[in-house]
Amino acid sequence: MIKKIGVLTSGGDAPGMNAAIAAVVKAAISKGIEPYVVKEGYKGLVNKWIEKVNINFASDIISRGGTVIGSARFVEFKEESVRQVAVNNLKEMGIEALVVIGGDGSYQGAEKLTRMGINCVGLPGTIDNDIVSSDYTIGFDTALNTVVRSIDQIRDTMQSHNRCAVVEIMGNGCGDLTLYGATATGAEVFSTHESKLSEEEICAKVKELAEKNKRSVIVAVSEKMYDAHKLAEKIEKASGYVTRATILGHVQRGGSPTAMDRYLATTAGMFAVDQLVAGKGGLYVGMSDNKLVARDIDSTLNMPKKDKSNEYNELRKINAAC
Ligand code: ADP
Ligand code: F6P
Repeated sequence: MIKKIGVLTSGGDAPGMNAAIAAVVKAAISKGIEPYVVKEGYKGLVNKWIEKVNINFASDIISRGGTVIGSARFVEFKEESVRQVAVNNLKEMGIEALVVIGGDGSYQGAEKLTRMGINCVGLPGTIDNDIVSSDYTIGFDTALNTVVRSIDQIRDTMQSHNRCAVVEIMGNGCGDLTLYGATATGAEVFSTHESKLSEEEICAKVKELAEKNKRSVIVAVSEKMYDAHKLAEKIEKASGYVTRATILGHVQRGGSPTAMDRYLATTAGMFAVDQLVAGKGGLYVGMSDNKLVARDIDSTLNMPKKDKSNEYNELRKINAAC
């Protein structure tokens, strides 16, 4: 049986990463395995920023946002010679297995490390919910709650002043934070990379709502699609609503993880350690139909995106009706 397990966080941080780290550390200790944390993702692996931790390390981090061991984007890790330094460091320290918490970029590193002799298992840590092989990612629920709380607050003031608000939401190329956020707040108009409305279509929809005397309008849009402030100006011109834009930004990445994120992080962390103890590697843990599954990283990277067009259409239908 393996004697030492390492854990690292990589890519953009996400609430719940600490809960996953705590679960890995505690699961390892409960099985008589020494737990090690790697600071600053793959960068720390190459620089040997690796520390043994004990049960005290895991006792109070479950509720904390961010990642207490740091995360990094480290493009050099794509080079085999750089990864070889990481493998040598781990082997020198006798660490045979690694849990990698991150997104699909991080899994590619994990898969390559496994092929170089260090068994790795990935956990889905990102607010974007863009890991196709998992229904939900660690951090998504917390970020979604932040989005919903923010839009609710923006709605209060838009309603008081008979205004329209454009709200820009994170997600990289994935529209889930916007779609779920729009669903949970009743945002009248929403647009994502998967279901894009042109600026003209958005203006026309808001104008229609103005003609129906709608008191306030929320336009929820995914990041990296429009200039939110310019879009607000166009909407104001087309509809007559005084229109303001809010870019939610990094507020969405922070905060204490919700109970659901802690639950997913903890159960997935325990499951990942089980896989490594069973001698497996090159796997990624996801939640599929309410069950934890471990799949080959290779196959998960090539899975097609789920088609949510029906969800978009149904929500747009009821929003257009009032
Ligand atoms: P995420 O894991 O959230 O998708 P990134 O795409 O930024 O975030 O990837 C995180 C890190 O994973 C990168 O900075 C790099 O260290 C490593 N990585 C990404 N792609 C590869 C790859 N093809 N091969 C090896 N390592 C990679
Ligand atoms: O992947 C998480 C995420 O927050 C995306 O939603 C966003 O596009 C990106 O990271 C922002 O990255 P950075 O913090 O480097 O600006």
